This record gives sequence, structure tokens and C-alpha cells, in this order.
Amino acid sequence: MKYKSQKVAYWFFALSMLLLILQIIYGFIMGFARIGMDGLHEFIPFNTARAVHTNLLVVWLLSGFMGAAYYIIPEEAQHELVNVKLAYIQLISLALVGVTAIIGYHFNWWEGRKFLEIPRQLDFLVVINVLLFLGLILATLFKGKRRTTTALVLSMGLLFAALLYLPGMLPFDSQVTDSFFRWWVVHLWVEGVWELIMGGILSFLLIKLTGVDREVIEKWLYVIVGLTFLSGVLGTGHHYYYIGVNKIWLIVGGIFSALEPLAFLAMALFAVNMYRKGEKKHPNTIALFWTIGSAIVSFVGAGLLGFAHTLPQTNLYTHGTLVTAMHGHLAFWGAYAMIVLAIISYSLPNLTGRKLYNSARGRASFWIANIGMIGMTVAFGVAGVAQVYLERKFKMEFMAVQKEISIHFVVLILCATLFTTGIILYIIDFIKHGRPNDEAMVILED
Ligand code: HEM
Ligand code: HEM
Ligand SMILES: [Fe+2]
Repeated sequence: MKYKSQKVAYWFFALSMLLLILQIIYGFIMGFARIGMDGLHEFIPFNTARAVHTNLLVVWLLSGFMGAAYYIIPEEAQHELVNVKLAYIQLISLALVGVTAIIGYHFNWWEGRKFLEIPRQLDFLVVINVLLFLGLILATLFKGKRRTTTALVLSMGLLFAALLYLPGMLPFDSQVTDSFFRWWVVHLWVEGVWELIMGGILSFLLIKLTGVDREVIEKWLYVIVGLTFLSGVLGTGHHYYYIGVNKIWLIVGGIFSALEPLAFLAMALFAVNMYRKGEKKHPNTIALFWTIGSAIVSFVGAGLLGFAHTLPQTNLYTHGTLVTAMHGHLAFWGAYAMIVLAIISYSLPNLTGRKLYNSARGRASFWIANIGMIGMTVAFGVAGVAQVYLERKFKMEFMAVQKEISIHFVVLILCATLFTTGIILYIIDFIKHGRPNDEAMVILED
């Protein structure tokens, strides 16, 4: 840590870890409900648990991204955060809005729009919160001595992510129009601007961990940004296949979304090549694991498993089944969860002054969580393919199919238990680092 104000990042990361645990609990509630153990049904029915599970995911990732920005931007810009007090206010208001939304969901205060369930009244508080965050980050960047490509890509990603939240707030009477704009948020986030955020964090971490020249690393970053926009924007069409819009989207969506894996492939090649090229052996190997791991697993989860159902001919059968859940889990895990865990692993020792990076626990956490998540992906995948055949080829009744495939959720729960063990180990490490402190500033981490 070089700037005192970077300490605020720690608290965003802590909030992030808390919400991750909550997200996992709701995942288990759904997993058990799927095998008939639905004792909480009266208070937490499946649809509520689902909305809470996915919204908590988004909030803990956003909190992680914000923490990442509060850590990275001062260091890249070579300037203290312009106002630390406001950053803490932003943290608390983020937690309050998140908690209000989650509690509200249990009392049926939510909108039936997958991923965008937050009631529109609360959306305005989200907007204020994000404006405060962006104001602090951008002001720091512009007051700073240095404007690096890494910092610019990260900030642009965050800014565009905020702007793209707005189309999701527009009210429409038509289900088709509503769906059309919902994807501007959901798709253009994960297959567009969030990739810039990921690219920015990845670039920062690779510069620190491999010691390869910034110029080389940032050239790759341009390529990734280019590929992302080239494919991802029109790739939105893969959500417009049979929703009631013009048929042209079948071709446009098919072609451009089929190109999307290229951006993730570039990210994976980028990370592995920089790792090979780097002469510097940074002692924080755990952070390196999560960094390279994120780039590789995102290629598998988003690139390969996304491609598996992106052509209209396949999506006609797989749409909205557990095949989607299979892809959703590994893509979110690889691209966004792992990059957040990577920046946390990198920054914690620098913030707290405790170098716990060579522990067996840290390595075990990485492998157990990943093996668990891959097992979960396989369980969802097998259930999903079975569902597609039974329901859509053999025209079995929907609920009868759900019963037929419930055995796969036993496997899911077992793998999820493994996954959760990995996460618990990670959080034990997090706690063992202790609190951030100013003495940590004497550590020269790079
Ligand atoms: C990190 C990047 C990605 C993440 C986090 C992600 C996550 C998700 C999630 C959560 C859904 C379900 C959305 C919903 O129904 O509301 C979804 C749907 C989908 N994704 Fe991705 N995705 C990513 C990248 C990709 C890529 C690169 C492709 C294509 C190559 C792709 C293809 C699809 C398709 C076709 C659907 C629609 C599935 C359906 O019809 O039910 N995704 N994705
Ligand atoms: C250990 C814990 C977990 C369990 C047991 C679990 C289980 C589930 C279940 C049962 C669903 C609903 C699928 C359906 O519609 O039937 C779901 C949805 C989802 N979960 Fe998890 N989950 C866990 C952890 C995670 C993690 C760590 C992530 C992200 C990195 C994640 C991301 C998602 C997403 C994106 C969806 C929505 C998928 C879609 O749109 O189809 N889950 N989860
Ligand atoms: Fe998409």
C-alpha cells in the first residue's frame, strides 16, 4: 500500500465476503428445495431465494469492483483518494440499499424481471450511490499525476456500467420492449463493460505480479477492449431470437455472439503469456493463482460454455433451462468472482502488513473452490441436457421433468459443499490478515 486512502478498499472487500456467504446460503436453500427439502417454503419460496441469490451475487461483485477501484486508482494515478470520508459514506449507503432490497424481497417487494428485481423506487438510491462512487474515482484520476491505460479502462468500465443501468429503469407496458431493454443491462454488463473492469484489474495484477513492462501489458489490454466491443455489442442479439422482435437478430446475434469467446480467449492467452514472460517472481503466489485462474476459467465458462448454446439452432432448445444455469455459474465464477478474489488476495497483505501468501490453506482454498465449482457446473449441465431432451424433445410435462432430474441436485449439493469449503478457507485467510493499518505502508510490494 502506497497511499493511506487505499485502506477504504478493505471494507468494500469485507462487505463483499459477507454477501458472498449469504449468496451461498440462498443457493443451498434452492438446491435442497430441488430435492424436496423445502421446509422454508412459507417464508422463502424458490422464486424469492432465486432473486436473493442472484442479486446478492451482483452486489458482492460490485462491492468487490468498487474496492478494487479504491485500491487501484490512487496507486495508478499517484494521488490520494480525493475524499475518504465520502468513500465510507458510499460504503455504508451501498450496504444499506443492498440490505433493504434483500429484506424487501422476502416481503414480495420486487419486480419479476430476472436480475433486475430491485423495485424502481430503490433504483434511484442505487443511482445516487454509484454517482458518488464515480465522482470520487474520476476526480482522483483527473487530479492524479498519471493517467494510465489500466486506470482508464477500469474507470471507463465502471462509468459505462453505471450508464447502462439506466435503460433498465425505463417503464414499459410491452413485455417485448421491457425484455429488449433488460438485456441492455444484463448482457451489455457481463459481455461488455464488465469485461473492461475485469481487463483493467487483470492488467493491474499482471503488471504487479509478473513484472512484465506496462507497455506490453497495456497493448494487450487494447486488443481485449477492441474484441469485446466488436463482438459483445451486437452479440446482444443472442437474447433476441424468439422474443417477438425482428428476425434479423437471428443472424446478427448468431454471428456476433459466436465471436464473443475471442475476447475471453485473448484474456486467457494474455494472462498465461505474461506469466511465462515475467522474470520477476512475486512472492504472492496465491494472488497469481487467482489471477491466471480467472482468465482461464472465464474462457471455459463464458467462452466455451457460452458458445455451446449461443447459436439460434441450439438456443431454440436450451433457452431458459438448466443449461443456462450451468453456463451462468462458471462464467460468473471465472470472470468476475475469481478476479475479485484475485485483487483481494493481492491487496490484503499490502493493506494489513501480514504476508500470509504462502500458506497451504490459501492454495487449498483455490483448488477446492474451483474443483467444487467445476463439479457444480457438470451437475447443472447434465441436469440441463436431460431437461432439454425430456421437456422439449419428448414433450414431457414441465414439473414431471423437474422431478425426473432432481437426482442431479444431490450431486449439485455435494459439489457445492466442496465449493463452500474452499470459500470458507478463503474467508479464514481473509480474517487472519487482520485490519488494515498505516504501518503496512512500509512494505514495498513491487
Ligand atoms: C463473463 C461473461 C458471461 C457471464 C457472466 C454470463 C452469464 C450469463 C447468465 C447469468 C445468463 C442468464 C441470463 C438471464 O437469463 O437473465 C446468460 C445467458 C446466456 N449467455 Fe452468458 N455469460 C457470459 C458470457 C457469454 C458469452 C461469451 C456467450 C456466447 C458466446 C454467452 C451466451 C449466452 C446465451 C446464449 C445466453 C442465453 C441463454 C438462454 O437462452 O437461456 N454468454 N449468461
Ligand atoms: C454453493 C453454492 C451454490 C448453490 C448450491 C447454487 C445453486 C443455485 C441454484 C439451485 C440456482 C437456480 C437454478 C434454477 O433455476 O433452478 C442458482 C442460480 C444461479 N446461481 Fe447459484 N449456487 C451456488 C453458488 C453460486 C455462485 C458462487 C455463483 C456465482 C459465481 C452463482 C451464480 C448463479 C447464477 C448466475 C444463477 C442464475 C442462473 C440462471 O440465470 O439460469 N451461484 N444457483
Ligand atoms: Fe448475452
